[in-house]
Parts: sequence; C-alpha cells; structure tokens
Amino acid sequence: MGYSGFLNCISGAVAFFRSIPKSKKVMIVSHLDADGISAASILIRAMERDGRKHSLMIIPQIERKMIEELPDDCDLFFFTDTGSGNLSYIDTYLRHKKVIILDHHVHEKNVKLHENIFHVNPQLFNLSYEEISGAGVVYLFAKELDNENEDLAHLALVGAIGDMQENNGFQYLNNQILMNGIAKGLVQIKTGLNLFGMHSRPLHKLLAFSTAPKFPGIYGNEDAALAFLTNLGISPQKEARWRYFDDLTKDEKIRLESALLAFSSSENIKAPFGISYVLPHQKDPILGDLREFATVLNACGRLHKEEYGIGACLDDPILQKRAVELLFDYKKALTNALDWVKKNERNGKSIIKRENLVIINAKDHIAPTIAGTITSMLAKTNAFPEGTLITTLARVDDNFTKASLRIVGLNKTSSMHSILFDVIKKVGGEVGGHFSAAGALISQDKEDIFISELIEKIENKEEKILS
Ligand code: C5P
Ligand code: C5P
Ligand code: ZN
Repeated sequence: MGYSGFLNCISGAVAFFRSIPKSKKVMIVSHLDADGISAASILIRAMERDGRKHSLMIIPQIERKMIEELPDDCDLFFFTDTGSGNLSYIDTYLRHKKVIILDHHVHEKNVKLHENIFHVNPQLFNLSYEEISGAGVVYLFAKELDNENEDLAHLALVGAIGDMQENNGFQYLNNQILMNGIAKGLVQIKTGLNLFGMHSRPLHKLLAFSTAPKFPGIYGNEDAALAFLTNLGISPQKEARWRYFDDLTKDEKIRLESALLAFSSSENIKAPFGISYVLPHQKDPILGDLREFATVLNACGRLHKEEYGIGACLDDPILQKRAVELLFDYKKALTNALDWVKKNERNGKSIIKRENLVIINAKDHIAPTIAGTITSMLAKTNAFPEGTLITTLARVDDNFTKASLRIVGLNKTSSMHSILFDVIKKVGGEVGGHFSAAGALISQDKEDIFISELIEKIENKEEKILS
C-alpha cells in the first residue's frame, strides 16, 4: 500500500518489460487528451532510446471492437492513460499477447488478470487519481527503465495540468516529478498574474472570460473589459491588432496587475495571482507555459491531429508550429458548441433542465471529442447553480452516443464515476473516469433510456454514494 507499493509496482513493470525481447513489436494505445498525448510522447521517446520498434494509436475510449481489431503482428501492447476501466476486455482479448497498462483512472474491480498482463495504477495502492497523471505514471516507468528519460519530466507535468491536478501546487508524486524537472533545468516556477490563456488570449478576452476568478461586471462582457483597460491607459489594440499580455510594456504590466489586485480586493474576490510553470527552452510563449501547452495538446487530440501534439512534445519545430495554430480551430469549435447550447437553452427537447440536473442532448451538433470539454466549461460558468450535475450527449456515428458528466462547483460528495457506472449498469455500454469527471459510450437507441435512468438516479438522491 502507499507510495512504496506503487513504486515497487513500477519496478515490476519495468522488469516485465525487460523480459520481452527487443525484436518484439510494440504498440502504444493512449487516450486522446493532453494527458494521453504527453503519456504517449514520453513512451515513444523511451521506446526509441530502448531500440524498440513501435507504433501508436490514440483513442477517445476503449471499446470492445477496438480491442478485437488491434493488429495481430504486435507482441506487446501498452495502454497509457486508459485501460484500467476495461481490464476484463483486455484480459479476454489480449491474454495471448503481453500487455502493460500504465493508467490512473478508476479501475475495474475483481478482475483476475492473466500473467501476461501487468497493471500499474496508483489507485491499486490507495493513492488518489490526483496524485499523478497517466503521463506521470509513464514517466516513472520510463525513468526506471533508463535514467536518461528524466529529461521528459516536463511532459509528465503537462499531463498533470491537463487533468487539473494542479491547484496552487501539486500532490506528493507530481511534486517529486516537478522537483526532477526543476533540478534538470526543464521547468521553472513563476508567481504573478495567472489567468487562463495568459499567452493565447487577447487582453480583453483574458479579463472577460476568466472563470478563476470571475471579475464582477467584466465577466462575460468584452466591452466592459475593453473599458477597464482603456481607463488604465492601456490600449487594447496596436495597429488594428489585439494586444496580448506578452505585448505589454513592463510599466503597463505593473499597472494592470496593480489595478486587478485593487479591483479584486474591493470586490472581495480571490486575487488573480498564483503559480505558473514555465519551460525556459521553449521559444513560443504559448508552449513555454505548461497550462497553455496542455490546452494545445487537447486541441490536437480532440481535433484528430494527434501527430501535431506528439511532435510538439518531442520538440519537432514544424509540428510545434502546426499544433499552436490548431489552438484557433479548437477555440472556434468550442465557441460554436457553446453558442449552440446558448441558442437551444429554451428548447426543452435539446436541453432538459431539472432541479439539480441539466441534460444537453446535442445529437450531432457537438463533436463527441469535445463534449467533455464543453461540459467542464459549462460547469465553470455562472450558467447553473452550485451542485448542478451537467451531462452532454453527443453522437459518435450512426450507432453510438457519448455522454460526459460533470458537477458545478466544489464537489466533495458525489462521484461522477459511480453515478455513471450505476446508470450504465442498467442501460448497457462502456463507462470510465473518476470522482470529478466521467464519461460513457452507449448504443444510440438507448439515449432516451439513459436520460430517464439518469434522472431517476439523481432524483432519488442516490448520488451521495461515494465511489
Ligand atoms: O481522462 P482524463 O482523466 O485525463 O480526463 C480528464 C478530463 O476530466 C478533462 O477533460 C478535464 O477537463 C476533466 N476534469 C474535470 N475536473 C477535474 C478533473 C478532470 O473536469 N477536477
Ligand atoms: O470524455 P470525458 O472528458 O467526459 O471523460 C471524463 C473522464 O472519463 C476522462 O477521465 C475519461 O478518460 C474517462 N472516460 C473513460 N471511458 C469512457 C469515457 C470517459 O474512461 N468511455
Ligand atoms: Zn489522465
């Protein structure tokens, strides 16, 4: 149990891996979000250094069909930032191969794994999901394999930030990785103004769309943000182009920071200052900030351009540029989806509002790969009261529908994973996730049953059960 048990398990996985001859073909199957892409990148570099032939597949979630169709000419399958929720499928279909699962999601219980399958997950040792990301687990594996892989520590932290494991600091295991990264000169800690999108949003949008904190009178109002800047003598535009925080002079930065400090204190809200993590070797300011780096990787994974994300992690200059450019398409996709939600707010067929539950039945109006992000974003706006559960249903193809579940505000009592797990037990389908965020895949003809079972579950107040 605890840290030493977990670290022993990592050493066990490395010994298992070393027992597999180098001639064997490796396939890496990883999750499509920032954590999954950083996890895959760390493992790709580690496989290169170990002289292993490898290929990669990035997936939104594990489905039986996908496992059945994995190429037969590979001998070793890694599942990174995914796999733990589907142990019995993996055991059934891949027990004649070798498998290493490096994950941190809630794992399927009571599955006796074949000796060809090695499962690493901090939750097996009573450590929480937030202790370490999927990329962090892969990093510990890679570092144990070859100490040279310590130079990938920053990628493990991108994964942790992408999974929201940073909250003015990290928990123990992530923090150990941070210490590695700092000692190697890969990462630096900076304190100061810290708003989401510091390097990628024009100033007025930075202020108007900040959710932590929300500036009263400015939140959601770009004109008010423009007026705030103009009153400070900070011009929001230069030569007909919006200015970014990085474009400000030193004096303007100080003026803006002081004004935001005074404004927050007069409005009695949290000051917008905190820790940020900087990659000193990155030339692009967006990739130089770990938080923005994670958003870039999410854009790549969710817009099906995972190769740009992997390239960005592994310092390929051309792919890095493409990855950063994709941020604009990603933001457009998110804005369009949020606009659709807004337009359909009163359409009771598309958006079902109950007392503690909002169900967004987007059908094919929202891409399934961004449904989770949209649900997380809606949970952070002022749109719904604290404690409201939000679920978004989005169609994957003609046969399947994806569902994401989140809750508004600080959540200490309801596990999103156990709510969806119980609903899926009745409806049928795949489910996964953790305390704060969960997702599921159901057959399209079960959409209505899913909605009624979810309402039944929530309105019977059964959701207070912890996972
Ligand atoms: O698969 P994984 O755990 O990496 O997915 C993380 C997802 O969960 C992200 O989309 C993130 O937005 C969401 N999340 C959240 N709140 C948390 C933790 C994660 O919305 N506290
Ligand atoms: O897709 P979404 O962002 O809603 O997923 C929330 C969490 O649930 C993520 O950690 C994701 O990896 C997990 N999930 C899963 N299996 C699914 C759907 C989502 O493990 N079928
Ligand atoms: Zn993860």
